[in-house]
Amino acid sequence: MKKTLTFIGNGNMAKAIIKGLLGKYNIEVYGRNIETLNKLKEEINEIEVFRLEEKNDMSGKNIILCVKPNSLDDLALKLEGWANSIYSVLAGTKLETLKEKIQSLHYIRTMPNVAASYQKSMTTITGDEALRESALEIFGNIGETLWLKTEKEIDIATAVAGSGPAFLALIAEALSDGGVNAGLARSDANTLVQGLFAGFAPMLANTKPSEIKDSVMSPGGTTASGYASMEKNGVRNGMIEAIRSAYEKACELGKK
Ligand SMILES: NC(=O)c1ccc[n+]([C@@H]2O[C@H](COP(=O)([O-])OP(=O)(O)OC[C@H]3O[C@@H](n4cnc5c(N)ncnc54)[C@H](OP(=O)(O)O)[C@@H]3O)[C@@H](O)[C@H]2O)c1
Repeated sequence: MKKTLTFIGNGNMAKAIIKGLLGKYNIEVYGRNIETLNKLKEEINEIEVFRLEEKNDMSGKNIILCVKPNSLDDLALKLEGWANSIYSVLAGTKLETLKEKIQSLHYIRTMPNVAASYQKSMTTITGDEALRESALEIFGNIGETLWLKTEKEIDIATAVAGSGPAFLALIAEALSDGGVNAGLARSDANTLVQGLFAGFAPMLANTKPSEIKDSVMSPGGTTASGYASMEKNGVRNGMIEAIRSAYEKACELGKK
């Protein structure tokens, strides 16, 4: 018999995860807005939807928590009973905070990214070892997963893979801008960048970045010239600082 997963929250992340899980689990979704719940039900017929009441019995349920971190206090007041498991996607919200707010036998904290909507998330996971296998299985349906031992590592992963799509978007946009600056039409420059990223992903899965660089860079050539310019203009250090800054912000938000 299929296991039932209970989503709380029916926004973008919930929808992306649900789409990856269809057919593998029974899915029920609790939300506060019946109109958006019914819209989701129209779109994904296989699910059951429920409006959150003043009090909702969560006894024995396996919950995927998909509300915004600042909604946790309000939501927690509406949940009763001991859940079996909580899988939280709340960015920055510590396991300790979840334990204070919602009663459950086991807790997991995850960090998916926006590519979940294409089932291509890079999701990091930590928490109770008892749920390790089931967490890897559930989130494996929306892309790649990596189990981390500590919450500190999840905060770093939040900077690298959670914020990462925005950082790569800057690189993609800048490459396209460079093409336009040199004389390409914008649509052609964008097509080149799309193709570049699509081809780069499988290469990166099999080859170290430094080896990819060495394989393209010939002595005194165009790549060597462009690469030297990137180093001179601090692209590498800019990226390292972006990760440090995003990590520090994740720590700061986690303390609130
Ligand atoms: N999007 C991402 O790329 C991403 C990546 C990693 C982690 N996350 C995490 O995923 C979580 C959800 O993000 P999202 O992008 O899916 O946000 P979202 O689209 O705004 O969805 C939030 C959902 O929570 C519901 N909600 C808000 N306050 C509530 C309350 N007090 N009680 C019950 N339900 C409440 C909202 O209901 P209404 O429709 O009524 O407002 C909505 O269904 C966040 O914690 C975020 O940190 C997101």
